[in-house]
Amino acid sequence: MAASKVVVVGSCMTDLVSYTPRLPKPGETIHGHKFSIGFGGKGANQCIAATRLGAATSMVAMVGEDSFGQNYLENFKVNKVDTKYVGITKEAATGVAPIAVDDSGENCIIIVAGANLKMTSSNVLEAEDIIKNSCVVVCQGEITMEATLTALTLARKHKVKTVMNAAPANADLDPEIIKNSDIFCVNESEAEVLTGVEVKSVADAQSAAVKLLSRGCGSVIITLGGEGALYSIQGHHEHISAEKVTPVDTTGAGNAFVGALAYYLAYHPSLPMREMIQRSCRIATVSVQSPGTQSSYPKKESLPMELFA
Ligand code: RIB
Repeated sequence: MAASKVVVVGSCMTDLVSYTPRLPKPGETIHGHKFSIGFGGKGANQCIAATRLGAATSMVAMVGEDSFGQNYLENFKVNKVDTKYVGITKEAATGVAPIAVDDSGENCIIIVAGANLKMTSSNVLEAEDIIKNSCVVVCQGEITMEATLTALTLARKHKVKTVMNAAPANADLDPEIIKNSDIFCVNESEAEVLTGVEVKSVADAQSAAVKLLSRGCGSVIITLGGEGALYSIQGHHEHISAEKVTPVDTTGAGNAFVGALAYYLAYHPSLPMREMIQRSCRIATVSVQSPGTQSSYPKKESLPMELFA
């Protein structure tokens, strides 16, 4: 098997998705009109998004010794993701994510991370052979901070580019995680939790990005939903807009963006960042127009050729 150019060290969840007219209020019971079970978890979603675009990928993760875990391993196999470093633990169940999606495509997610939190720094260190031969290592916030930091520092040791998607938001994020990120990527609400800046406009996003840059990451991307994304490096900010569409289901759109970005960093490294971000926004925009998370991620064959030039 060819060396994986993209390695994702992160989470696997089984998504339990209820489609409802609107999101419930606290204490309220409402009728939903559809239910589906899908493959999720921000890490695995990003890995699958990159794979669908043609990336050779490896996942470093932990599932439980249960049917959800077995199904997940099969899902990776079907999608041709290398699973040499996907462990199985008896100590916890495979992660699950009950999700509600309303008629406007907006969602609410609870994660019960389970087995994801059993992945240790030693498990990550075991994957040094694939990390050192990759181009990009991608992490998120659904496994322990220790394991995430180990992955980022190991990648840095081997001069492999690091992308940290700090989702879900964590106000107590280890500062070393930010320092070891070449690209630190968050959405508006995650940026607010980390910086205290309420992000309601591109100007707000710039203020938040300045604060994040001052903590030592190489660059910052703040995704802005339908408004695209802000890219910031010291002294320079660029707003990249996205096409306006009517979303069906926004779940996992940020993961489609990060997975696509990892693909471009690994396979089209000479593209300007602005172009990589623009193309990644286009892929995320495709994903919000179909239901589900991984089920909505497009394959290379279904996308315009210009995205791969
Ligand atoms: O970002 C979407 C993902 O968040 C879902 O797939 C769910 O599993 C949670 O990890």
